[in-house]
Amino acid sequence: MPLVNAKEMLTKAKAGHYAVGQFNINNLEWTKAILLTAQEMNSPVILGVSEGAGKYMCGYNTVVGMVEGMLETLNITVPVALHLDHGSYEGAKACIEAGFSSIMFDGSHYPIDENIAKTKELVAICEEKGLSIEAEVGSIGGEEDGVVGAGECADPDECKMIADLGVTMLAAGIGNIHGKYPENWAGLSFETLAAVQEKTGTMPLVLHGGTGIPAEMIKKAISLGVSKINVNTECQLAFQEATRKYIEEGKDLQGKGFDPRKLLAPGTEAIKATVREKIELFGSANKA
Ligand code: 13P
Repeated sequence: MPLVNAKEMLTKAKAGHYAVGQFNINNLEWTKAILLTAQEMNSPVILGVSEGAGKYMCGYNTVVGMVEGMLETLNITVPVALHLDHGSYEGAKACIEAGFSSIMFDGSHYPIDENIAKTKELVAICEEKGLSIEAEVGSIGGEEDGVVGAGECADPDECKMIADLGVTMLAAGIGNIHGKYPENWAGLSFETLAAVQEKTGTMPLVLHGGTGIPAEMIKKAISLGVSKINVNTECQLAFQEATRKYIEEGKDLQGKGFDPRKLLAPGTEAIKATVREKIELFGSANKA
């Protein structure tokens, strides 16, 4: 099945009280692991590509080529959206050109008027081309690709202003951060989440920083209107741990253990296990 935008899968998730996972990709192994797991679990899925990861993978055209090739060769029949994660205005335009099916424009670091103006322009382009678009209000904490956010709680009135522009989904800061959560993390602000949803009606909300959020908080966030949850670091940690084990056990020194197809296999399997666990938790299994 060709790439689809994220609108229908998120509308269904919202109505069905579950969330669709966005798993960020870094290379071929990541992409293959995520697609195969989504197919195995009969779940819709969103592949997230940060601008840094896009550059690493030799540009957006290469990413589109790789993903489309896999959809065909691996016989992927579940709905898959290819989504730019935390895009700049220029990055969003480049991804639209390259054939992504969904983009995020992260204007959260601009004054609200500028965020509104740029989001509005991109909404019009996405509408015309049939892409879905995610916008952000209130920056997500932590560091991603050198972009550091403070973990704000979004202003629900600003969220409404952005939601009213016709975006498909909205990321609102609710005390979440990218990467590992510190020991003294105060947890998600469900008060903010409920206030944002109340102002934005049926808008599917996006929870960034999915790594390390306790299962109970994830479930509560979904019950309050979160329909898309982003996970990146957790797959990286799972890959790292499995790869480290393989090398520490000296397996790369045995026989053809140095072959990248062998060396990267445990890490790839670990990504699959992480994605499987998240799809179960988010409730999107058998919702393709
Ligand atoms: P984590 O790396 O914390 O899982 O966050 C991913 C994310 O929000 C991507 O936008």
